[in-house]
Amino acid sequence: MDDAFKLNLVQRPRRLRRTASLRAMVEETVLRPADFIAPLFVVEGDAAPEEINSMPGVFRFGLADLVKECREIQAAGVPAVALFPKLDPKLKDDEGSLALDENALVLRAVRAVKAAVPELTILTDVALDPYTSHGHDGVLTAERDDVDNDRTVGILARMAVLQARAGVDVVAPSDMMDGRVGAIRAALDAAGFAGKAIMAYSAKFNSGYYGPFREAVGSAQAAGTRLLSKATYQLNPANRREAIQEALLDEGEGADMIMVKPAGLYLDIIRDVRERTQKPVAAYQISGEYAQIQAAARLGWLDLARCRHESLLAIKRAGADMILTYFAKEMAKALRGA
Ligand code: PBG
Repeated sequence: MDDAFKLNLVQRPRRLRRTASLRAMVEETVLRPADFIAPLFVVEGDAAPEEINSMPGVFRFGLADLVKECREIQAAGVPAVALFPKLDPKLKDDEGSLALDENALVLRAVRAVKAAVPELTILTDVALDPYTSHGHDGVLTAERDDVDNDRTVGILARMAVLQARAGVDVVAPSDMMDGRVGAIRAALDAAGFAGKAIMAYSAKFNSGYYGPFREAVGSAQAAGTRLLSKATYQLNPANRREAIQEALLDEGEGADMIMVKPAGLYLDIIRDVRERTQKPVAAYQISGEYAQIQAAARLGWLDLARCRHESLLAIKRAGADMILTYFAKEMAKALRGA
């Protein structure tokens, strides 16, 4: 009875899924190594690279190993790295003073990488969280009940100039203070760095998935502060219109690229932003997204290579032109069949 069942269909979408070559012909989204930016953690000293507990396969590098890693990343076809310093807690203070030190670790890292791998694009975060003893992205008010927006922006603008002077190609404000993109643009221009670009962490949500990153750079304190949480500056994960507004404000203030972060849980926001700006859109597949896939793969519950690829493909399909991802090097190698 069932054997004889026939549908009289004009449309049979499965026709184009029949063979591998047909499937390749109709493939709409393709990942390439140049889509990725590799975030890298840097520490003082020349100890062997130290793996981050909650991020298997991700290390904190001393300067020499950092340079080596950057060479490999470049050779894999990945065009850019984003450098994040992890400081000795003893060097942190309330004001994040070390952020304005010309010899700060991240600036030395920038100079070393630029000298060794000049073709590689370097991004650095503009935010105070690696430097403050309280872990917030800015300095606090006298009452210590808020992050002082305007005073923080003044510091960030100076920080961005130091980074530009060290040779960074793109500064990436990740602090979510109001008005910081405009202030950074003005400071860069005034210092003779009109050619340096700004990638704004525009739609940065107050996410629980930053946990492993905060372990990596030792900035977890602020997450645990009940009186003053990052919710006073990062976006509420419930808010879509507010995210779009942030993106448009940053574009108006001079952002060259607009970032959405996290990525995988915010594909709708990536799409929203993509449809409203002509600027390149970046998305940050953050530490917790990486950790989830790695953890499930380690338990044998997910296939690492497939899920890595699918997670990144989804972010690109949603509209991201580039993706910051801890999978960058391995993914690029896999795409090249290495
Ligand atoms: C901080 C910053 C964070 C990340 C990049 N820059 C985390 C935070 O706001 O605490 C997170 C990246 C990740 O989780 O991978 N300015």
